[in-house]
Amino acid sequence: MIDRIVTTGADSEDPQEIELEVTLRPQDFASYIGQDRLKQNLRLAIDAAKKRSEPMDHVLLYGPPGLGKTTMASVIAHEMGAQIRITSGPAIERAGDLASLLTNLQDGDILFIDEIHRLNRTVEEVLYSAMEDFKLDIMLGKGPSARSLRLDLPKFTIIGATTRAGALAGPLRDRFGHIHRLEFYTPEQVEQIISRAAGILNVKIDSLAAKELATRARLTPRIANRLLKRVRDYADVNGDGIIDASISKSALQLLEIDHLGLDPADRILLHAIIDSYNGGPVGVETLAALTAEERSTIEDFIEPYLMQIGLLERTPRGRKVTHKAYVHLGKTMPAAQDSLL
Ligand SMILES: Nc1ncnc2c1ncn2[C@@H]1O[C@H](COP(=O)(O)OP(=O)(O)OP(=O)(O)O)[C@@H](O)[C@H]1O
Ligand SMILES: [Mg+2]
Repeated sequence: MIDRIVTTGADSEDPQEIELEVTLRPQDFASYIGQDRLKQNLRLAIDAAKKRSEPMDHVLLYGPPGLGKTTMASVIAHEMGAQIRITSGPAIERAGDLASLLTNLQDGDILFIDEIHRLNRTVEEVLYSAMEDFKLDIMLGKGPSARSLRLDLPKFTIIGATTRAGALAGPLRDRFGHIHRLEFYTPEQVEQIISRAAGILNVKIDSLAAKELATRARLTPRIANRLLKRVRDYADVNGDGIIDASISKSALQLLEIDHLGLDPADRILLHAIIDSYNGGPVGVETLAALTAEERSTIEDFIEPYLMQIGLLERTPRGRKVTHKAYVHLGKTMPAAQDSLL
């Protein structure tokens, strides 16, 4: 697999990457840039909960990878002054795993469940009553002699994160009092994030270069931080360590990231739709086969940004590229299709 700076999620295997994310992670609302509406809503919920001395209602955060869901969960915990435990949907394999997590919580604790759409059905059902009435229903024994037992649980808050709110079962979604979508950042906010990260990492970058990186980071903080690090490496090797406009341009060229932030995988996808399907519509399964990408990679990592900047559209009949995509790739749009737009 090629090392993809732009389209991958958090690389949970790479210790350097983990360290980078941890050092750069904002701790509180003040250092968490952007997502202003989300912050306002959460601020209100947190203040209200504190005033009543109650834990806050369960929170579901959804949106494309790298926009700051995990970060926001820890910010909420910090602002609540609460302890946070972190787990993920696939890590909770059996109902018993969930039972032991929940019974070990204390009043006011936050349980963060990442990739909550990947919880299995039996675990999910136990979670329903836990979230609703802070009770745990467990079955003792099997067959006719089986008895069910209700345990009282501490008053906790679940924060769930998912890249796909649509994949969440309805009853689970309904048990969250706060459901918020994280939005892509503006280039100006990304620039602020880059400057903040440069300060923390002690990287010298001039304002033109920061602007340049900001326009190519897919409006996503994780990618902004990662680009900064890669461009710093380039500046250390090919210059005096200072990132200016010309250094950042050559580094981005080497990384094959174009001025809209697209990498080769994005361009392959757009070319596939244009060259093999005349611009679309074409189904995502076909695209996956054609580009040798997983369907989930296309849906979670590649498409959201292409749609955000208006190069791709999802229609009931499949994916379609826009006129802007033709222009970006320097291709001429077929006349018949042009007239439809
Ligand atoms: N609002 C922000 N301000 C500054 N930095 C941010 C912000 N949001 C995220 N970041 C940075 O981006 C990195 C990635 O964010 P985070 O891990 O929270 O994304 P995520 O939405 O949980 O992604 P995934 O869906 O892959 O789990 C963090 O390490 C943090 O440094
Ligand atoms: Mg995360």
